[in-house]
Amino acid sequence: MSAPRKLAAGNWKMNGLAADLDQIRALLRDQPNPGCEVLICPPATLLERMATLSGGAIKLGGQDCHIEANGAHTGDISAAMLVDAGADYVILGHSERRADHGESDAVVHDKVLAALDAELVAVVCVGETLEQRDAGEALSVVGEQLAESLPDGVSAAQIVVAYEPVWAIGTGQVAGPEEIAEVHDFMRETLVARFGEEGAAMRLLYGGSVKPGNAAEIFAVSNVDGALVGGASLKAADFGAIIAALGQA
Ligand code: PGA
Repeated sequence: MSAPRKLAAGNWKMNGLAADLDQIRALLRDQPNPGCEVLICPPATLLERMATLSGGAIKLGGQDCHIEANGAHTGDISAAMLVDAGADYVILGHSERRADHGESDAVVHDKVLAALDAELVAVVCVGETLEQRDAGEALSVVGEQLAESLPDGVSAAQIVVAYEPVWAIGTGQVAGPEEIAEVHDFMRETLVARFGEEGAAMRLLYGGSVKPGNAAEIFAVSNVDGALVGGASLKAADFGAIIAALGQA
């Protein structure tokens, strides 16, 4: 794998106007030599401007892509369009898309194929709801999402997996180290069983209320190779602190 193993990924979701590019300027100034790979997934409207601004120092990604390469799909964006605008990555199967747009594992699977066709790295999100966790189903839910969302034969250079318990996203309620370790160890075993060495090398991110104050504790957990950060990625000071914590982990 050519990329550094550790990855700090920011998901701006439906946030960000031109004025917010100041946060990228500040991040570039404050973190000139990060000890990890840094990825930001802004709204598609900012991709090209962010790419121009960061000149490759920050990797960029989309937040979704369509299964088709082009065609009559009003409002959608294809993987090739993301690449054209400067993206190297795309987040797929985020729980907000699974919930708001009814995306099934089968849809996510086909989006991953579309992303890989365009040579994007797919950041595939999985994670249980609170009801599922309370019912003792966290591992079985994550196992099924991995089994059905990931295509056969993928490599560690093509796929990043993000474990994002739905109950921890945007709630300030972070999963505890034991909860994260249990799921990440399970994901590693599952990926190794299916993909062998590639599964061993695939990067596993934790996501859900990651903040400067809890980042170091999360990055110390086994099989955590980085984070997918929502709210705290919008401010350079907060995301910079998370990047620094990952660089030192
Ligand atoms: P959060 O979002 O950090 O705001 O909880 C994480 C995500 O949804 O990727």
